[in-house]
Order: sequence, then C-alpha cells, then structure tokens
Amino acid sequence: MNDPCRPAYHFTPPAHWINDPNGLIHHKGWYHVFYQHNPGEDGWGDIHWGHARSRDLLQWEHLPIALAPSKEECGEQHCFSGCCAINGKGEPVIFYTMIFGEPREVPSWTGYAMGSADLLRWQKFPRDPVMKTDVHGDTRISEWRDPFVFQFQNRTFMVQGGTRVGKDSRGVVLLYEAMDNDLLRWSYRGVIFEHPQADLRSIECPVFFPIAADRFILILSPYGPVQYWTGTFDPDVPRFNPEVSGVVDHGKNYYAANVFRDGLGRWLSLAWVNGFKERSGNGWCGCLSLPRVLECGTDGRLLQKPAPELRDLRRRHVRRDGGRIQGRLEITELTSDMLEVEAVVQLGTCDSLSVAFVEANSQNARLELKIAGDRVFLNGDEIPNAPLLGANLIELRIFADRSVFEIFINETFCCTRTLHESPTAYFFRLEADSAGAVLERLDLWELAPLTYSSEFELASQK
Ligand code: FRU
Repeated sequence: MNDPCRPAYHFTPPAHWINDPNGLIHHKGWYHVFYQHNPGEDGWGDIHWGHARSRDLLQWEHLPIALAPSKEECGEQHCFSGCCAINGKGEPVIFYTMIFGEPREVPSWTGYAMGSADLLRWQKFPRDPVMKTDVHGDTRISEWRDPFVFQFQNRTFMVQGGTRVGKDSRGVVLLYEAMDNDLLRWSYRGVIFEHPQADLRSIECPVFFPIAADRFILILSPYGPVQYWTGTFDPDVPRFNPEVSGVVDHGKNYYAANVFRDGLGRWLSLAWVNGFKERSGNGWCGCLSLPRVLECGTDGRLLQKPAPELRDLRRRHVRRDGGRIQGRLEITELTSDMLEVEAVVQLGTCDSLSVAFVEANSQNARLELKIAGDRVFLNGDEIPNAPLLGANLIELRIFADRSVFEIFINETFCCTRTLHESPTAYFFRLEADSAGAVLERLDLWELAPLTYSSEFELASQK
C-alpha cells in the first residue's frame, strides 16, 4: 500500500479493487460515492458496492460495504453498476444490475435495495427484482445493465444500456418510467438512442440528464473513450434528438463516467481511472477521477472544469509572470510527485507548444502533451479528433498525482493517463518553437493528499 504509484489526491478505496463510481448522490449535505469494488483482491471479481461519503469532496469517510452478492440466497455472483435515488416517500433506493453468471451468458436483472435515512445501511431484495429482461416484450436485449434514474417534468425515468439483438444489432439506450411513488414498478418506454457505430459490442453506464434548461446530455461508455451527445428530449414520444457530440476524455484510462447534482445545482462527474497493474500484490488497483463540474456551452458542447474544491489542496506555490517563451521554460525550484499547473498561453504564430512533467532525477519527460497546429500528441501518440482546432488562447490545467495525470484545456479537451513507471519528483516544463508563444501567466502548486477516516471495520482491510 506504500506503492509510490498509488494516487493520493484521487479517491481510492481503503484497499484492493475499484472500478465504476455508482449511485452518486448528494444527500443531506453529504456527497455519497458508491463504487464497484472487489474487497478481497486487487483485481476485478466478486463485485460488491463499496461506499464512502464526504462533505467537501476532499475529506472522505469510508463506510461499510453497501451491497454484497446474494450468492447463497439466489446465486447472484456480482452486484454490477447502478444508481441511487430518493423515492416519492423520501426513502433512499439503490437500483443495480444483478449478475448470476458470466455477464454475456446469463441475462441480468435490475435489482434494488432500500437504505436507512442516513444511507449507511442497505437491505437487498434479491428475489424480487424491479425488472427482468422480459420487460422489453418482443425486443431482445443482451448485455442489459447499469440503471441510471433522473427526474424530468415531475416524472421519474430510468435509462439502461444494452445491445438490441436481431438483424440490425445495435448498442442502444433504453428508457423506463416509474409507475409508482416507491419507484418499484417500472414500465418500458422504448429505445431513445441507437449508437451510430454498427459493430459496437454494447453500451455501458449510460447517464442521461437535463444539463441546461432546454438541453439533455447523454454520456456513455462504449468499450472505448467515453462519449457524449447533447440535444433535446421529448418524454412523450419518447425521443432523444442528439445534435452535438464529442469525446468526454481523450485519454485511454478514463471510463464509466457518472454524475451527481449537488445542493449548489451543479452537475459533478466522477469516473473510473484504470490502467494500473492488476493483481500486482500491491494491495490496491484503481482510483476515481478528479471531480469535474459539467456545463453545456451555448454551442451545445460539453464544458468540463475541475471542481473548485480542489483549490483547497494547494500548498507550496511558484508563479511565473507573463513573457515571451522561445525554447524551454523549466520550473525546477518546485518538484514533487503531486503537482498542479495552471497556465495561459497565446500561441500567435507558434506552431508547436509542449508541456511536460519531467522526472527530476533522470530528466525524462514522463508526460508530454504537444499542441502542433490543429493536432495534439500525448507522449508522441496523436490524439484523434482533438477539439482544439485553431484555438489561439490555450488555458491549461494539468494535474500530476504520482502515476495519474489529468489534463484540461479550454474546458473542451480533457485527457486522463496512467503510467506504470514508479514516479519520483517531477518538475514542469513548457517549450515553444522558435516562432515563440506568449505566456500570460503560470502557477504551479504542490497538492496535498485527500484525507480518509472511518469508524467502521472495513471488509477490504480485514
Ligand atoms: C463498466 C462495467 C459496467 C458493469 C461494471 C461491472 O466498467 O463493465 O457495465 O456494470 O463495469 O463491474
């Protein structure tokens, strides 16, 4: 657990495996995060729902496991992803995916659990799922999973992902509507989205919500970079009309993004950061992304910025005032394996700008992002369809947390990347070609770790 790769200001469980964030909910002043968790090993398997809460997204309290598979009672093998909602009687309910065997062989059911008022204790009803696959009538759906509940026009809906099986086999998003106040009776309303890629295996973790007064967003995980579409939603047809699409994160290590709406009215997202060595014997594997605030631009594009709460982690600080850069600017007086940089650069006629975290000992660039005209490269590999095209002003925020890096540019480009090499201390380097660029300002901070507490005996630490 003293593994130097283990991130410190990204959320991690007490030990062992984590994948998707689930059931994100802001309730009575607490941000509750549930997550896909193997409490016994640092690899995927025996999937439970882990649970933690925080008032400020920085100080976390680890809580007892919320859901465990009901193996003996009904042969349930895993509790896959889902969501948490408050029903019409003010009672907390979890909806999740019940898995009885290998996911692709056995149909899944949509199970539920009722929570205590403080969301700390959960009771499952494994013999009494809220939906089985036959809810779709003649339409055959496989890989059906990951319920997400949202409210719209005083009605309560749920979406799930799956594959429509048949001659036009497709990854689809399916819509259901609650028929009672308890949220225990659901009716299937239809397919509201078909993925344009014909050979897609399935759609995982669809998240669908009104991101602005007249605009819905669909975020989904298609066994590749997380994608989004924004558009309008008519619940009566029912139909989602996607108008603008994009990639939520261009890195290879960001998946299963989920959201909560908090008391401030913000939509905040968290996702699973993957790409670490599995079953390495280090006692941990995986973390969640930094919390992001999601908004919709006037052009319909998704805007993402790191949650402002993260500023409270800032400690030692170095600033560079504006000036022309030609060649390298190295900031070597502050080195650490936990850094954040915020910089504003005007490209002007500069054709190549690169930013890097460089290992202080070896002088090797561990993470290097290069903007070359309308192309973007990460550690030498071109990122396809990067939406920076033609931007003259580059507003950068980059986070280095040991082996995890998160890059935000102009709120429209995000990229998460995990590295395997053990980190030591990094310094920050900016480099412009001979045409030069104008640095408006640059701030660099060392960041503090998240803090964790718990009054409970936690399964993964036994
Ligand atoms: C996405 C996913 C979900 C599933 C869960 C299983 O990473 O495959 O579709 O519910 O993880 O752990």
